Amino acid sequence: MTLQLGVLISGRGSNLQAILDAIAAGTLDARVRLVVANRPDAAGLTRAKAAGITTAVVEHKAFGDRTTFEHALVALLTRASCDWIVLAGFMRILTREFLSAFPERVVNIHPSLLPAFPGLDAQAQALAYGVHVTGCTVHLVDEGVDHGPILAQTTLEVEPADTRDILAGRLLEKEHALLIATLAAIASDRLSIEPAATGDARPTARWRGAPPRV
Ligand code: GAR
Repeated sequence: MTLQLGVLISGRGSNLQAILDAIAAGTLDARVRLVVANRPDAAGLTRAKAAGITTAVVEHKAFGDRTTFEHALVALLTRASCDWIVLAGFMRILTREFLSAFPERVVNIHPSLLPAFPGLDAQAQALAYGVHVTGCTVHLVDEGVDHGPILAQTTLEVEPADTRDILAGRLLEKEHALLIATLAAIASDRLSIEPAATGDARPTARWRGAPPRV
């Protein structure tokens, strides 16, 4: 099943680039139907345009509240026929307004082993805490910050020479591989999402075979 992706970004867009490269290389069965940035200066917009992808800017600052901002996002993404949404460095919290339009189909990549170090600059948080092992997580998005059922994780040992930027760079390579492996697994039905059974339960990720180790 070819995934029809909407990708939300706020900045550099290297995870978006990894998606575009994997599609071009034939290792990910997906089409990026729309890239939306909440900042007009997001460098990832240039990457999308270079790949011939339709882009939009929806500046959160231009809206009076989260609800109208999210309605604008949903309208664009549904009009573009997106069926899976990838948060690729999208630094806004999404509420039920947005999430209910794409139930169990919003995926986020985060540079820590969640539930440790959600929020901004997870790499600096991990170094400051003094962890010996960190990693990255791909998860389904719920209304919490970097929160929701985990789809895939990978680990990385912290080295004595790691500064925040060195660690972030080493993690980024893992992020790209993990995000692509997870999306490819969804596209090929090796990873499926079982909806929550009751109001309280969370959706469950079911892997056929082992989750990826990247
Ligand atoms: C990535 O490290 C991503 O994991 C992180 O932002 C960066 C975006 O880089 N996301 C979060 O911290 C989400 N809480 P990119 O724009 O080059 O993909």
